[in-house]
Amino acid sequence: MDNYKKNILITGGAGFIGSHVVRLFVNKYPEYNIVNLDKLTYAGNLANLKDIEDKPNYTFVKADIADLDEMRRIVRGHAIDGIIHLAAESHVDRSIKDPFTFARTNVMGTLALLQAAKEYWDTLPDKYEGKLFYHISTDEVYGALELTHPEGVESPFTTVASSAEHHHAFGTEFFLETTKYQPHSPYSASKASSDHFVRAYHDTYGMPTLVTNCSNNYGPYQFPEKLIPLFINNIRHGKPLPVYGKGENVRDWLFVEDHARAIDLIFHKGKVADTYNIGGFNEWKNIDLIKVIIRTVDRLLGNPEGHSEKLITYVTDRAGHDLRYAIDSRKLQRELGWEPSLQFEEGIEKTVRWYLEHQDWMDHITSGAYERYYEEMYSGR
Ligand code: NAD
Ligand code: DAU
Repeated sequence: MDNYKKNILITGGAGFIGSHVVRLFVNKYPEYNIVNLDKLTYAGNLANLKDIEDKPNYTFVKADIADLDEMRRIVRGHAIDGIIHLAAESHVDRSIKDPFTFARTNVMGTLALLQAAKEYWDTLPDKYEGKLFYHISTDEVYGALELTHPEGVESPFTTVASSAEHHHAFGTEFFLETTKYQPHSPYSASKASSDHFVRAYHDTYGMPTLVTNCSNNYGPYQFPEKLIPLFINNIRHGKPLPVYGKGENVRDWLFVEDHARAIDLIFHKGKVADTYNIGGFNEWKNIDLIKVIIRTVDRLLGNPEGHSEKLITYVTDRAGHDLRYAIDSRKLQRELGWEPSLQFEEGIEKTVRWYLEHQDWMDHITSGAYERYYEEMYSGR
C-alpha cells in the first residue's frame, strides 16, 4: 500500500458502472492502489471483474457502506486518499416496493462514508490536501422534463452519441447543473438526499467533494432488471417484453465506458465542490429504442426482420413514471473536453453482441434466488 502514489476506494465496484470504473482505473493506473468496496447485494457480481481480480494493485473488500464502524476501519486501514462512491440501490421499480432499503443504503450509507472519510482525513497533518470524495449521482434528481415534441425535432446539440440518423430532441428544455432538484421516486429522492449530504460536508467542514449527475447508462454487465439487458434476454428466450404505459417515456442513453472515462477525467481534473452533468444528447423514446433492440437481436440471431415484435406487451405503467430525461452536458465538454466516443447504433450493436456472447453470465444471474424474486416482481406483466 505504501508503494503506491494514491490509495483509491471505489464503492459499488462489483455493480454495473462500478465494474467498468474499477477495470479502467486498475488497468490505466498501475501506480494507484484500487480498493473495491461492495456489499455484494443481488446487484453486485464479482464475475464482472474476473479479468482484473489478480492484478497487484487491486483489492476487494466485502462491506456495507451503512456500517459506520466498518467504514472507519476500511478508510483508515487502507489510508484512503480518494473515494469514488458508486455503491447504491439503483433500480426505480425496487424503490417503489421497498423505499426503506434505498434510504438506508443511499442516504445513511453515503453519510457513513462521508463521516468516515472526514474523521480519517481530519487526523492527517495536511488534512484535506490531495483528498477527494467524488459522489456519482443521477439525472433523476432533477425530476422530469416536458414532452413538448412527442415525435421529436432536430436536436439543438450534436454529439457523437446521437447519430445523424437519430438526432432528436423531444422537448425544448434540458437538465442543467443549476436545475432545481425535484425528485419523484423513492430512488431519486434518496439520491437527491445523498447529493445534499455530500455538498453539506464541503460547505460545513471544507471537505473536498464533487458530484456528477449522469443520464441512463447502457453496455455490458448491466443487471437484467434494467430495460436493455432485460429485453435482450427476453427476446432470446421468446418471452414477453413488458413496455410500461405507452412506451412514450424518453431517456438519454450513454455507453457505460464513456461514463467511466468521464469519471476518470473528472476525478483528476474536475473542480472541487463543483457539479458536472454527464450525458450524450442521445434521447430515445422507449418504444423506438425497443424496436432497435428487437431489430439488432433478431439480426444477430438470424431471425427474420420483425420476428420478435410480437413479444411487445404493453403493461401497467410504473407509478410516478418520469416522462423525459435529457441532460445538457456542455459544461463538461467545454471545461474538461469530454465527449462521448461511441455512436449509439455502434454502442447498441456492441451491447447486444456482448449479452448474446455471454449467456453464461446471464444464466448465472437469472437463476436461483434472483429468478424467484424476479418472477414475483414481474408476475402478471
Ligand atoms: P448497480 O445496482 O448495478 O450496482 C450497485 C452496486 O452497489 C452493487 O455492486 C451492489 O452490491 C453495491 N451495493 C448496494 N448496496 C450496498 C451497500 N449497502 N454497501 C456496499 N455496496 C452496496 O448500480 P449501477 O447502475 O452500476 O449504478 C452505480 C451508481 O451510479 C449508483 O450510485 C447509481 O445511482 C448511479 N447512476 C446509475 C446510472 C445508470 O444508468 N445505471 C445512471 C446515473 C447514475
Ligand atoms: O437516468 C439515470 C437512471 O437510469 C439511473 O439513475 C438508474 O439507476 C437507472 O436504473 C436508470 O433508471 P430508469 O428507470 O430510467 O431505467 P430502467 O432501465 O429501469 O428503465 C428505462 C425506461 O424503460 C423507463 O422509462 C422505464 C421503462 N421500462 C423499464 C423496464 C425495466 C419498461 O418500459 N419496461 C421495463 O420492463
